Amino acid sequence: MISFELNGKAVEVDVSLDTPLLWVMRDHLKLKGTKFGCGMGLCGACSMLIDGVSTRTCILPIAAVANRKVTTIEGLGNPQMLSTLQQAWVENSVPQCGYCQSGQLISASALLNSNPNPSDQQIDDAMSGNICRCGTYPNIKKAIKAAAGQQLGVQTFDPSQPREGAEV
Ligand code: FES
Ligand code: FES
Repeated sequence: MISFELNGKAVEVDVSLDTPLLWVMRDHLKLKGTKFGCGMGLCGACSMLIDGVSTRTCILPIAAVANRKVTTIEGLGNPQMLSTLQQAWVENSVPQCGYCQSGQLISASALLNSNPNPSDQQIDDAMSGNICRCGTYPNIKKAIKAAAGQQLGVQTFDPSQPREGAEV
């Protein structure tokens, strides 16, 4: 049995200790927002926050998150209450097919939590591990800058404080 905090709530799962976190999330806990891409730790589609750090979960055994804090895309916000970052994603029309976007938002969230006002180079460095076959990189950068307050006037970012009243 492994215990950890998932999106702010304590959970316990009874699975083999080497089961990748991604599959525990999708198959056992039924949170399907995080996607499977390469399964080799190369594309970033499976990213979740582990104690605030963007982490590839397709190669992370569930045993590694015992007693730690895990945040998935579902923990950042939802269509009725988008986070500042998600709202910026909508306003900048970032998603194309959308498949990579869960991982992109997780990595962007980790960046802004550690660096509320990143430079272009810092954005490129932080997001370089998240691949988008649709080429949404320019709009991802615009949205991160917007959420950081460089366009919207927002000074801080906190994914635990979704923007109230926001609409999809
Ligand atoms: S699915 Fe995990 S890095 Fe690609
Ligand atoms: S939006 Fe299609 S892969 Fe990124």
